[in-house]
Formats: sequence, structure tokens, C-alpha cells
Amino acid sequence: MDGLMEHLINNDSLSSQSSGSKKIRWGILGTGKIANKFASEFSHTASAELAAVASRNLERARSFACVHQIPKAYGSYDELLNQEDIDIVYIGLVNSAHYPITRQALLAGKPVLCEKPFTLHTEQTEELILLARQKNLFLMEGLWTRTFPVINRVKEIISSQKYGNVTLAQMDFGFIGNLDPNGRLMNPELGGGALYDVGIYPLTTAQHFLGDITEFQAMATLSRTGVDTRVLIQAQHCSGALSVLHASIDTASQKEAYLFMEQATIHIPCPFWKPPVASCTIHGGGIGSSPNTPVETQTISAPYSGNGFEFEIEHVSQCLRDGLKESPKMPLMETLQTARMIEKIRSNWKIVHV
Ligand SMILES: NC(=O)c1ccc[n+]([C@@H]2O[C@H](COP(=O)([O-])OP(=O)(O)OC[C@H]3O[C@@H](n4cnc5c(N)ncnc54)[C@H](OP(=O)(O)O)[C@@H]3O)[C@@H](O)[C@H]2O)c1
Repeated sequence: MDGLMEHLINNDSLSSQSSGSKKIRWGILGTGKIANKFASEFSHTASAELAAVASRNLERARSFACVHQIPKAYGSYDELLNQEDIDIVYIGLVNSAHYPITRQALLAGKPVLCEKPFTLHTEQTEELILLARQKNLFLMEGLWTRTFPVINRVKEIISSQKYGNVTLAQMDFGFIGNLDPNGRLMNPELGGGALYDVGIYPLTTAQHFLGDITEFQAMATLSRTGVDTRVLIQAQHCSGALSVLHASIDTASQKEAYLFMEQATIHIPCPFWKPPVASCTIHGGGIGSSPNTPVETQTISAPYSGNGFEFEIEHVSQCLRDGLKESPKMPLMETLQTARMIEKIRSNWKIVHV
């Protein structure tokens, strides 16, 4: 085990230092699609307020501020980062901007929630984690899946081993995205590709439920621009479970997760990465038993009224109020492990031509 990983396992940054009830004042960097969705959820949260937005373009920032009723709009990220009355920034920028702008934010003394994928290179992830530690600032990768109550409940069922071990799993996330060669999905300069954009969901969800991947084989198709448009991973996890994970930015798939245990099957229907519901079909595990002839079916339900970002906003705001420097739901050690796994997959996948 290397030094940083050991430090992350033994660190005390999850222990609570202070608490309070003040509303956390958020700043948003970027005015794109996801920034809009994120901003619209503040109306569903009691513990946080949206105080400012910044864009590379002042007009865009102003019109975003107008739509979301944000008091301050800035025409550069830097300006917002230098405001004293901002408690945390959300970075909803293209993938290639995550590392430089997160670094800039931490250097300016701001806690950060940065969208997935955290960075495009493991060394960048390592550097940012060390920087956050040095500055004693909260830092989290915005893998919002971890903040959904249904995901937490499924994790509890699996960890309890009530229905035996998970032996097999399958998860997928395929959609037809904007295939403009210059757009963020297809342009390698902006960190495009299926694994970074959506493959990260089956990958990290499978590791969350089944443990780290110990062995894998991966295949990918490449676009003319040089990004992966489809990726297929077959893996073994440290629990012994096998998984089949696939993702695509040019093909629509079911976007579901199945976890097959010895005596039950958990099904998380689309959208499995932000689930309002899942089912657990108990079949008992005898010879010939099947989820199609269940002994009992349980529904795991936690509906939400908005688009789901309320859970992440509430969770991070609570972490800040409690004085935490990282999230217990999405620890930095897992961000680092994910960065390393993505790099391993990208350097070992078999490129297949179509
Ligand atoms: N959690 C989720 O469910 C989810 C869903 C979709 C996407 N995401 C993540 O969110 C991030 C943004 O995705 P999006 O769909 O919102 O993308 P988008 O609509 O293209 O917006 C990206 C924003 O990045 C900023 N930007 C900075 N440098 C840029 C550059 N060189 N070229 C283009 N834009 C640049 C722009 O903000 P300004 O021009 O305003 O400065 C732009 O509005 C990605 O990291 C993605 O992985 C997360």
C-alpha cells in the first residue's frame, strides 16, 4: 500500500469537529446542463442557499442567476473563488476543467464538491487530495449516487448477508448523447468518452456493493475523434463476486442494476444511479429456486420530489456544518481507487473496431 492510500485509511478527517445550524452558502462554477439541474434543487433543501454563480461569460452568469434567483453573478471563476462569503463551491464544468479549477479553488481556501470524474489523471487526483489535506479543506467527488437513500439501504442488505453473498452482478448505462465531435462527450481534449461520462456509474456502484475489482477484462469501441463510445467490463471483485458492466454514449440501454445473491435478487430499475425505488426478490436459494417464483418480494422505496440533487446538497452541507473534511458516503480513498481503476481499464482495454 502506498503512503497516500495508507494516510487516507488512517486519517481522522471524518471525525466531527464542530456543528451548527447555519445555512451553507454555495457558489456554482459553470452554467451548463448539470449546473442548471444542481441549482434548481436548492428550492428543495432547507440547510443550504445558493449565493453566487460564475461563468467564463458574464452574460451567461447573469442569465443563470436570473433563472435561479441567485443574488450574485460573476464573469470569471476566479472572482467567485475570491469572495469571502462563500462556504463551498460546486464545480459543474467539463471534465478537463475539474483538476485546474478544483486546484484553484482549494488554493483560494474554498471547500469543493467537484463533479465526476474527479480528474483525468491519477496524479492529479493525488495532488488535489494532498492539497485539501494541507489546507484542511473539505473535498468530495460529486458521485451523487452515494447520497440516495435506496443505495444506502441496498448496501445495508448486502452487508448484512441476510440473503447470502452477492455472487453475480450486472449494471449498464447506455444513452445516445450529443455526438458533435467538438462537444464535451466526443472531444478528447475536454475529457470525453463513455467510461468517464457514464461508465463511472456501473464501475463505482459495483465496487461499492461488491468490493474492489481484483481482475478484469475490458473492451471499447473508439470514435473517429479518439474517445471510447462503448465500453464493456467483465470483472471479479475482492468479495469473489463477478460483474458485467457496460456503458455507452451512442447506444441506449436499460440503465438497470441487478445484484444476484445466494437467496435473493436485488433489482434497481432505471435510473439505477439515482434510484427512487428497488426491489428485493427472495427465492430461498434451494435447488431450482428463481426470482421468477419468489417466496417474497420487498420494495425498497425512497421517492424524491425534485431531480435528486437535494440529497447531495443536504449531505455536503451537513458535512460542512459538522466540520468534516471529507464525506463518509464518498470518501477520498474511493475517489483515488476509482481514478486508479479507470486508468488501469483505459490502458488495458482491447480496442475493437466497428
Ligand atoms: N451528476 C450527474 O448526474 C451528471 C450528469 C451530467 C453531467 N455530469 C458532469 O457534469 C459536468 C458538466 O456536464 P454538462 O452536461 O453540464 O456539460 P455542459 O452542459 O457542456 O456544461 C459544461 C460547462 O463547462 C464550462 N466550461 C469550462 N471550460 C470549458 C471549455 N473549455 N469548453 C466548454 N465548456 C467549458 C462551461 O461553463 P461556462 O461557459 O458557463 O463557464 C459549460 O457550461 C461533467 O463533468 C459531467 O461529467 C454529471
